[in-house]
Amino acid sequence: MIYQTSTFTFENVEQGARRFAGLEPGYIYTRIGNPNMTELQERMASLENGEDAVSACSGMAAISTALLSILKQGDHIVASNMLYGCTYDLISQMLPDFGIEASFVDASDTNALRATMRPNTKALYIETPANPTMKIIDIRAAADISHEYGAYLVVDNTFMTPYLQRPLELGADIVVHSATKYLGGHGDLVSGVIVGPEHLTSKMKKRYLKDLGGIPSPFDIWLLARGIKTLGVRMDRHCQNAMLVAEFLVNCPQVATVYYPGLPSHPQHELAKKQMDGFGGMVSFDLKGGLDAGCTLMNNVRMISLAVSLGSVDSLIEHPASMTHACVPQVERHAAGLTDGLVRLSVGIEDVEDIISDLKQALDNIK
Ligand SMILES: Cc1ncc(COP(=O)(O)O)c(C=O)c1O
Repeated sequence: MIYQTSTFTFENVEQGARRFAGLEPGYIYTRIGNPNMTELQERMASLENGEDAVSACSGMAAISTALLSILKQGDHIVASNMLYGCTYDLISQMLPDFGIEASFVDASDTNALRATMRPNTKALYIETPANPTMKIIDIRAAADISHEYGAYLVVDNTFMTPYLQRPLELGADIVVHSATKYLGGHGDLVSGVIVGPEHLTSKMKKRYLKDLGGIPSPFDIWLLARGIKTLGVRMDRHCQNAMLVAEFLVNCPQVATVYYPGLPSHPQHELAKKQMDGFGGMVSFDLKGGLDAGCTLMNNVRMISLAVSLGSVDSLIEHPASMTHACVPQVERHAAGLTDGLVRLSVGIEDVEDIISDLKQALDNIK
């Protein structure tokens, strides 16, 4: 059922007052809560093995709400140097405007990470695997370092979903998701989720999400809840297809390097096996012909769509340096291993033979 309503009626004025005062449970107004949100939150908390969850209107609403609720003026945040472009922008540009200092580090290097933490560090923010380099960060090690400094570890689990990785079980404090991606799964909604301890989520719901206002529509939440019903089946197929696509790419003469944690050649393959239950559906690669070759490939795919976003049942290909990560300065991108020619492929659940033959015919256009 979709509770497609902006408001909820009270039986009388006294009941309305009691609900506002928090003396009686019950819905008031959809920005403050809606049965579709409640259902989704319970489901996500259970899947991530967390105490509670908060649903937001996008991944960025989830990330900004989570960070603004744990940081204040004078605090410091340490973030991994390879993040989704808008997250990087939020942390590097917007938070400092509010008096919150930010430092970026290769969080897979525990010595460098420890050296970046400060007494006023209140949050460590990571994505693992990182979008789009597929670098893996040891979540348990990051949690230990974070807690030594009394900081919260926040993990973006978008690429994995709780089906493949549960950061809270590895010591993280807060998990954020762009539910637009694998959780929704069908490329037909924009949504976000935060999972964490009740003392933080209740603050987010009662204050930050309520006042910042980034709540999802009941219809999108209903679509999301429906998508989650097939999460496991889809993720199994994404993982199988991505492994076969990665192996195909490794053997292509036009391809220089393939970044996929399932490949034994991935520098953190062992860590990936330890902390993930599968390697996911995202594959990135560099072509020997660099950016020009990448453009030829992306301009010649037929079944695969040239589009940003990821985690849909449909395969999507994109160019991070000019699209999703264009707001990260080139020197920062290069330092984090994101080359100008890197191509990111979100491997869908189509017949893998169709995906591979489309890539093959597109690669054959490279001179
Ligand atoms: C890893 C990651 N986190 C967060 C986001 C932001 O999510 P949304 O587009 O739902 O705001 C994205 C979007 O691509 C992403 O890839």
